[in-house]
Amino acid sequence: MSSSTVERIRSVAARITTPLLPDDYLKMINPLWTARELRGKVIEVVPETDDAATLVIKPGWGFRADYAPGQYVGIGVDIDGRWHWRSYSISSTPDSNRDTLTITVKAMPEGFLSEHLVRGLEPGTIVRLALPQGEFVLPDPPPAKILFWTGGSGITPVMSMLRTMDRRGTMPDVVHVHSAPTQDQAIFRDERLALAERHEGLQTIENFDDEHGILDVEKLTKVCPDWRERETWVCGPAPMLEAAEKHWSKSKLGKSLHIERFSADLSASAEGGHVTFSKSEKEVDLDGATTLLEAGEEAGIQMPFGCRMGICHTCILPLKKGVVKDLRNGAEYQENQNIQTCVTAAAGDCVIEI
Ligand SMILES: Cc1cc2nc3c(=O)[nH]c(=O)nc-3n(C[C@H](O)[C@H](O)[C@H](O)COP(=O)(O)OP(=O)(O)OC[C@H]3O[C@@H](n4cnc5c(N)ncnc54)[C@H](O)[C@@H]3O)c2cc1C
Ligand code: FES
Repeated sequence: MSSSTVERIRSVAARITTPLLPDDYLKMINPLWTARELRGKVIEVVPETDDAATLVIKPGWGFRADYAPGQYVGIGVDIDGRWHWRSYSISSTPDSNRDTLTITVKAMPEGFLSEHLVRGLEPGTIVRLALPQGEFVLPDPPPAKILFWTGGSGITPVMSMLRTMDRRGTMPDVVHVHSAPTQDQAIFRDERLALAERHEGLQTIENFDDEHGILDVEKLTKVCPDWRERETWVCGPAPMLEAAEKHWSKSKLGKSLHIERFSADLSASAEGGHVTFSKSEKEVDLDGATTLLEAGEEAGIQMPFGCRMGICHTCILPLKKGVVKDLRNGAEYQENQNIQTCVTAAAGDCVIEI
């Protein structure tokens, strides 16, 4: 159905639907027709490996198809009446002719949502979406010499970049080094190898840990000797990112390095306490490990968020009373300071303005 037809239905609904809001009626006709929140419908779940799958999602109104390759979306899934939010890099290429986007999820051992997305999600499920964001992006035009270093599910944002350069016909001199535990667990393997066949400038180097051992910085610089000349994007497990950061900064090349983290180390602890979300008039008792973002969402509040790991600052809210602690490093924040709710927990009773 064209967007003008949808708009006409919307305006008719607005005139005839009192006391319910037009949105409520529109959602009954088509669950993707809502202007209050971004939604998407899972069209297909495509297995990639034993523990990874690609979700093809058709976004509803308000979603921009012009995301930058490398950006991520927030996705909210209703499980047993509660919305659970996580961030996932978009693995598809931005294309205004397509009405779907894809994310590719690896089931984490004991991971709550990733396990459900890979193994339990039915096509047809309606999910909530947060707009694409993130700074780990490919410039257009791309730089003349690129190094991509990826590990495991860290391939996803880089796959969007490779697909985009392939589609636009702008593939420069690219070295892509990818590690996976085994060959069978290497996500997008056939497509990556086919791309390298098609593009003279693209060299793909694979490392399977069980056969070749871990590919560390030393091995990386051997397989890509001109790494210093290349603008570099790295995404993978935390130790790999730390090693890259150290090595590039020691070589005074920090400016040419782009890093995407999928998780933050929230191992510090706080005391916990009674938390009041003042404007929403919700109160909860919290332990010292639950973030204020998770607590607000659990209480049914629409909390602002982006990366959910302390980078983007989208989740900032005023702390009106009390003390909270940053779970990354134990730093304390006092009343009347702004706090990042995704990485802070209550250190005593406190009041958050939302
Ligand atoms: C910007 C961004 C982009 C992301 N893109 C992708 C993507 O494209 N594909 C993908 O599969 N995942 C991606 N993630 C990770 C994703 O958001 C979830 O964190 C992951 O799927 C685990 O969620 P879960 O609910 O299964 O685990 P949870 O139940 O939340 O956690 C289970 C356990 O695993 C630990 N844990 C959680 N996440 C990670 C992690 N990433 N690495 C190591 N330990 C972890 C937790 O500390 C906890 O102990 C991305 C994260 C960010 C911030
Ligand atoms: S959601 Fe990005 S910093 Fe909190």
